[in-house]
Amino acid sequence: MAVHRTLFEGRPAWVLETRATSMVLGLGADDTLYLPHWGARGHSERIADYLPTIPTNRPSEATFLDGQPLAYPVYGMPTFKEPCLVVAAPGGARGARFSFVEDRLEDPEHLELVFADPQLELGLRLRFEVHPALDLIVRSAIIDNIGPRPLSLERALSAALPLPPDAYDALTLHGQWAREFELQQRPLLPGRLVSGSSRGTSSHEAHPWFAVRPRGEQDEHSGRVWFGSLAWSGNWQCTLEVERNDALNITLGIQPFDFAWQLEPGATFGTPALVCGFTDEGLGGASRRLHAFEEAVWLPANHRPTLRPVLYNSWEATHFDVDAASQIELARRAADLGVELFVVDDGWFGGRAHDRAGLGDWTVNPTKFPRGLGELISEVHRLGMRFGIWVEPEMVNPDSDLYRAHPDWAYHAEGRSPTFGRNQLVLNFARADVRAAILEQLRRLLSDHGQIDFIKWDHNRAWTEVGWPEQPDQQREVWTRHVVGLYDIWATLRAEFPQLWIESCAGGGGRADLGVLRWCDQVWTSDNTDAADRLAIQYGYSRAHAPRVMVNWVTDVPNEQTGRLAPLRFRFHVAMQGVLGIGGNITQWSDDERDQARALVEQYKQIRPVVQHGRQFWLRPPTAIGACGVEYVSGDGATVVVLLYQIRGLRGQGARRMRLQGLAPERRYRRASDGYESTGAALMAAGLPATLVDSGDRHPSLDWQSQLQIWTAETR
Ligand code: GLA
Repeated sequence: MAVHRTLFEGRPAWVLETRATSMVLGLGADDTLYLPHWGARGHSERIADYLPTIPTNRPSEATFLDGQPLAYPVYGMPTFKEPCLVVAAPGGARGARFSFVEDRLEDPEHLELVFADPQLELGLRLRFEVHPALDLIVRSAIIDNIGPRPLSLERALSAALPLPPDAYDALTLHGQWAREFELQQRPLLPGRLVSGSSRGTSSHEAHPWFAVRPRGEQDEHSGRVWFGSLAWSGNWQCTLEVERNDALNITLGIQPFDFAWQLEPGATFGTPALVCGFTDEGLGGASRRLHAFEEAVWLPANHRPTLRPVLYNSWEATHFDVDAASQIELARRAADLGVELFVVDDGWFGGRAHDRAGLGDWTVNPTKFPRGLGELISEVHRLGMRFGIWVEPEMVNPDSDLYRAHPDWAYHAEGRSPTFGRNQLVLNFARADVRAAILEQLRRLLSDHGQIDFIKWDHNRAWTEVGWPEQPDQQREVWTRHVVGLYDIWATLRAEFPQLWIESCAGGGGRADLGVLRWCDQVWTSDNTDAADRLAIQYGYSRAHAPRVMVNWVTDVPNEQTGRLAPLRFRFHVAMQGVLGIGGNITQWSDDERDQARALVEQYKQIRPVVQHGRQFWLRPPTAIGACGVEYVSGDGATVVVLLYQIRGLRGQGARRMRLQGLAPERRYRRASDGYESTGAALMAAGLPATLVDSGDRHPSLDWQSQLQIWTAETR
């Protein structure tokens, strides 16, 4: 059983167990909920074995809860640590004090602990969903107004995760447009390390994911790691707080800055889910658990088990100069290369001749498509591909019919001039009428032109002047209501068009969180398609998300973002790490390039089940000089794909060994390219030398080398 009820010193306690971990919860004398252990599973029946020494505050503050492992610190408790919940009552009373009401064990894997503050007439339900096989626990909080007065939530985070006094390092993901998902490791020192977003989306700048490990540990494959990922696509905050006794208080949830929620009598507020876990298999083990969660539990169910198609995207080839003839030509070339999904990007709609017009009008541009979209869609289908199209429904250009009719539908602050980003404004998706109008346009788009199989849903600017002057009471709710409204639209579209695939994009990877991945099948990882930069971006992305939700295109050289020239094969090998796409102007590719591309697409299809459905292991992280590698192992351990890269080499530097991971030690594995054989044990212990440079060559290039190896285990 995943959840055990028990008693500690006569008070209720619970042990949540997964395959290899446990989380222990217990009520203190005053009904405070403690979380004294989260980590390796002790296989202990006795809860006392898990309990730590309670940290000592100075005697005169012995009643204070600072430094204690609180599962959900609330403003009103005697502690000064970062709280999860702040509530205000009419008349000015602030702070809450909860008493325990009951536990509800809906089934062996779902625990709900119910608390109430009788004075505020406020309920608090802390939820724990245990995934034993994945070693993960999903936490959330539900806040209920059980009285007759409205209450005001000023902060409502998803959970707190306390760790005992020690020295820790934090791992977080940061960047900006075109350099998303840079992994940063730094020591946690007294005080708070805050990561988060207040830009409207989860953002390029920080990703709602964290990991913590004992100070100084670096190993990819071993060592204790605690980690979490928040399913929220709007403003969020993660605080890693080292308390005065060196205990760690980790909190995650909706960004408290400019958040408020009026909780009417009888109303309920649910926080986003926080998926958290512990492993002693290093950062790689943490990543694989999150990948498995997306694959087994979280992604939209209808396409969850389906291999993602090889796609073509028109953006870098035609930009805004989209028309029927150019797209049909690209589609024919794409089909010839083995592409399975053809996506027309920006430029096909309204007055969209450039980025100053058109957003808001999701109707086909009659000059660019005089015979409508149907012609292109049927040609794409005739060529045996699925058809996809780009939309950016949360945005509006002032030069659009929508804005001319409804200027008040964009976020605005009364009497102030709006700030433009990419010449566009953000529509107020908190408004039901705005959502209904956009949804209706999307319905027509998806119904009127033949079957559209896929949409790429973009979002290209951060939100400013986030106001709704006509609704003064809800100003601070807008941030949250927009995100919930967006999820509603995605849910409706998926229900009405069950065949539809949705790709999330926000100027690349600006909104790639678990919240999005509840409704979208995959994510456009970054607008930076440079193969060298991409190695680092994909490495960071894969810390939090599975290969099957990471879309990568092979584009032209010189690269649009960096001007760099990487060989076609290298670009393909990098893009093969997740969902392969092609995004170059393939009408300009030479016969030789097309032949190479056709063969590489074919090879990708061969390895795709292992890449998309297998387990991923980083053998060496990307570096500017020297080799890096990533490995994928099929679920049955019988097929292994190894991708090796070297952006730049050093003359005389010996080949580094790549110790393979996740193989069956006793089985023999055979490399397809040359028939070389070795045992799983040897490949894991000694590894493969990464000999990327062909020594037979008279002038071997040390740069831009890559290799794809396929290993198969002998049949037993
Ligand atoms: C964003 C996306 C790109 C492309 C353009 C179109 O930048 O990330 O892939 O769709 O918008 O305007």
